[in-house]
Amino acid sequence: RLSFIFSQCTLLLFCYFFGLFSLSTFLHLNYKNSTTCAGIWTVNSIGRLGNQMGEYATLYALAKLNGHQAYILPGMHRYLSPIFQITLPVLPEEMMGKIRWKNINLHDWMSQDYCHIKGTYVMLTGYPCSYTFYHHIRHEILKEFTFHDHIKEEANQYLLGLRQEHQEVTYVGVHVRRGDYVRVMPNTWKGVVADRGYLEKAMNYFRKKYQNPIFVVTSNGMDWCKENINVSRGDVHFAGNGQESSPGKDFALLAHCNHTIMTIGTFGIWAGYLVGGETVYLANYTLPDSPFLKVFKPSAAFLPEWIGIPADLSPLLIGPTKHV
Ligand SMILES: *[C@@H]1O[C@H](CO)[C@@H](O)[C@H](O)[C@H]1NC(C)=O
Ligand SMILES: *[C@@H]1O[C@H](CO)[C@@H](O)[C@H](O)[C@H]1NC(C)=O
Ligand SMILES: *[C@@H]1O[C@H](CO)[C@@H](O)[C@H](O)[C@H]1NC(C)=O
Repeated sequence: RLSFIFSQCTLLLFCYFFGLFSLSTFLHLNYKNSTTCAGIWTVNSIGRLGNQMGEYATLYALAKLNGHQAYILPGMHRYLSPIFQITLPVLPEEMMGKIRWKNINLHDWMSQDYCHIKGTYVMLTGYPCSYTFYHHIRHEILKEFTFHDHIKEEANQYLLGLRQEHQEVTYVGVHVRRGDYVRVMPNTWKGVVADRGYLEKAMNYFRKKYQNPIFVVTSNGMDWCKENINVSRGDVHFAGNGQESSPGKDFALLAHCNHTIMTIGTFGIWAGYLVGGETVYLANYTLPDSPFLKVFKPSAAFLPEWIGIPADLSPLLIGPTKHV
């Protein structure tokens, strides 16, 4: 009986001291919060790999510029962390709904206003993917997008296997964006996707310049590629699996090449950006009055040193029945 009372007292004492301890930690944390921690900034997690990377990098850069702590949403973490060694902390799912966010809808290029965004709980929204947001800290951004070792090794192993008897080769990653864009570009945006003429010109650029180029083609429309890319020189390899649901492997292959041929879309833009070699892109692929140009600024999407080859817009002028 006595020992029972005794243990109750101990328990009470314990609770008392524990309470004091937690209160002080809480006050201490709160004090710290008010002086050093600067709220929560995040970004929406929408679109596929290229978009997610653009959103991540833009959040990273703008939060840093405005002196706030960046957090990514769990959806973005699920998308990017299996591929890259990203470091931004993840906002717990249950906190999402508890915060009154200030939404800041971004256009797809940097502007002066974005250096002075006011707000402690900020949700950046949109599909930002422009080097103008983050090129000044590209080393940090490239570090965030470091591949996991097993992905790196797999890509390098695959590329080594393509070398055959040659010692000195130049790998050119080719990304051919097809899928939904084949319809969306002409129907919604008065534009075209890359055709065989563009790919031939882009490849010939590298064939003239480098000995033993090896073209590593990835695409979400591989059948079209096999029908439209001339393989008679023996330097073209159709690689990757074109799986839109697990794009990491295709992306890693492109990113480990020495140069890039992109067509359209943020997947190719990011491949060129990570590779850092020469990047050839499809330029002026919409009519001048396209609504696309209201949301997309070519000069903010393609680095000045990248090489544009103008698109053939004649299918748009001939009529909607012409196959692009
Ligand atoms: C493919 O390229 C070769 C040159 O290597 C050329 O002789 C041939 O005509 C081309 N084929 C087509 C269908 O364009
Ligand atoms: C080209 O890429 C391969 C594979 O990533 C790499 O091993 C090689 O060092 C690169 N060559 C140059 C000149 O950067
Ligand atoms: C795209 O069009 C603009 C405006 O007409 C022009 O200045 C630019 O040189 C074109 N780009 C390419 C790569 O042809």
